[in-house]
Amino acid sequence: MKSSFLSRLLDRADKIDKQQVVDYLVEVAEERDLLRFIFDSMMEGMAVIGPDMTVSYLNRAAADLFGVEDIDEALGKPAQRIIRNRRILQLCEEGFHGLEGNLHRELFLRMENREIYLETNIVPLHLPRNEFAILLLFVDRTEERRVEERLRHAEKLASLSTLTAGMSHEIRNPLNSLSIHLQLLRRKLRRREDQDGETMEILGVLENEIKRLNNVLTSFLNAARSDAASFIRLSPRSLITDTLALMRPDLENEGIEVIVHEEGEVPEICGDPAQLKQAFINILKNAVDAIKEASQTLLEEGRGPGERRVTITLVSEEGQVNFIFTDTGAGILDSDMQKVFEPYFTTREGGTGLGLMIVSRIVHEHHGDVNIRSRIGQGTQVIVSLPMAPEPTKLLEHAAYSAATETQS
Ligand SMILES: Nc1ncnc2c1ncn2[C@@H]1O[C@H](COP(=O)(O)OP(=O)(O)O)[C@@H](O)[C@H]1O
Ligand SMILES: [Mg+2]
Repeated sequence: MKSSFLSRLLDRADKIDKQQVVDYLVEVAEERDLLRFIFDSMMEGMAVIGPDMTVSYLNRAAADLFGVEDIDEALGKPAQRIIRNRRILQLCEEGFHGLEGNLHRELFLRMENREIYLETNIVPLHLPRNEFAILLLFVDRTEERRVEERLRHAEKLASLSTLTAGMSHEIRNPLNSLSIHLQLLRRKLRRREDQDGETMEILGVLENEIKRLNNVLTSFLNAARSDAASFIRLSPRSLITDTLALMRPDLENEGIEVIVHEEGEVPEICGDPAQLKQAFINILKNAVDAIKEASQTLLEEGRGPGERRVTITLVSEEGQVNFIFTDTGAGILDSDMQKVFEPYFTTREGGTGLGLMIVSRIVHEHHGDVNIRSRIGQGTQVIVSLPMAPEPTKLLEHAAYSAATETQS
C-alpha cells in the first residue's frame, strides 16, 4: 500500500537529501493526525483486530463502547482483554474463520449499566505479506429502536381501542336485553303461586354473571380508552398523598412500609389528577404483588419474611419531575422486561396484564415517560417522568403590562 509519492521517493533513494526525508515524514505524520482526527470524530465505532486476535486499532467511539480510556494502551493487547463482551468476541472469531464477504449482525447487548442495539459489520482486510485482519464497524441503533418500539406500541394500543370499542358495543346490547328479560322473568315468577327457591337462585346466578360480564367490559374499555384528559396544575407531593390514601388498606393488610422522600424542591406538574392517581395505583399494586411473591419464595426457602417496603422518591431534573417507585419485591426476569408493557402480559395468577399498559398510556398522554429497572430477588424501580408545569408567564406579562399602562395614565 505504498503511496505514489513514497514509491517515487524510494526510486530515488540514493539521490535524496535529509531535508526531503524530513519533509516526507512531516507530511505522513500530518496525514496520519488528520485521519485519526476524522475517525475519532465519527459516531460509528471502528476496530481492527489483527492476526492472533490482537487489537490493532480502535477509534474513540469503539473505545467508548468497550470502556477503554487510553486507546494507545489498548493497542497490541489481546482482544479478549479489551473487548469484554462475549457476543462481540464471538463475532470476531467468526470473522477469522473463513470470512469471505462482509458479515452483518444486529446485536442486543447488555453493557455495564445500559442496554444497546448495535448494528455490526465485519469486513475482512487482506494486509500485505499475506496477513489477514478484520475491521469491525459498529452503529448504535438504540434510540431508533426505542422510537420504533414506541410506535409499535401505540399502533397496538390504537387497534386495541378500536377492537374493544366495537366489541363492547356488540356485546353490551344483547347483555342489556338479557338483563331486562331476566327481570321480566323474575317478576312473572314472583306472581305465580308455586314459587320455588331453586329457580330464584338460578335467576340470581344469571343476573350476577351478567353483572360480571358488564364489569369486565367496562375495565377493558377503560384500558383502551384514550379520551382527552383535563389538565390542571398539580403538586407531586399531594398527588402521592392522595394515591397512598386510596392504597392504604392494601398496603397495611400486607404490612408494607411506605417511605415518601422528596429530594430538594419539587415543582408542580400539569395533569389530570384522576388519571395520574390511576397510574400510580397500578404501579403500587404491582409492587404489592411483587413483595408478596418475594416473601412467598423466601418463606419456602426458609429464609424469613424479608423486607416489605416501597420507597417513593420525588426529584426534579432537567425540566422533569421524576416519581421513583422502588419496591423490595421479586423483581422481573430479564426475558420478561421487554414484555411488561404489552397488553395481556402477566405472570400473576388472576392478573389481566393491562396494569402497566394503562400506566404507559396515561403517562404518554401527559407527555412523560415510564422506565423500569429491576433485579431478580432484589426489587424493581418504576420511574415515571413528567414535564414540569410551565411558568405562568402569561399572568406575569399581563401584570407587567397593566403596571406599565398604569404609570402612563
Ligand atoms: N413492581 C414489579 N415487580 C415485579 N414484577 C412486576 C412489577 N410490575 C410489573 N411486573 C411484571 O409485569 C407484569 C405485568 O404487569 P401489569 O401490566 O400490571 O399486569 P398484571 O399486574 O395484571 O400482571 C406482571 O405480571 C409482572 O410480571
Ligand atoms: Mg398489575
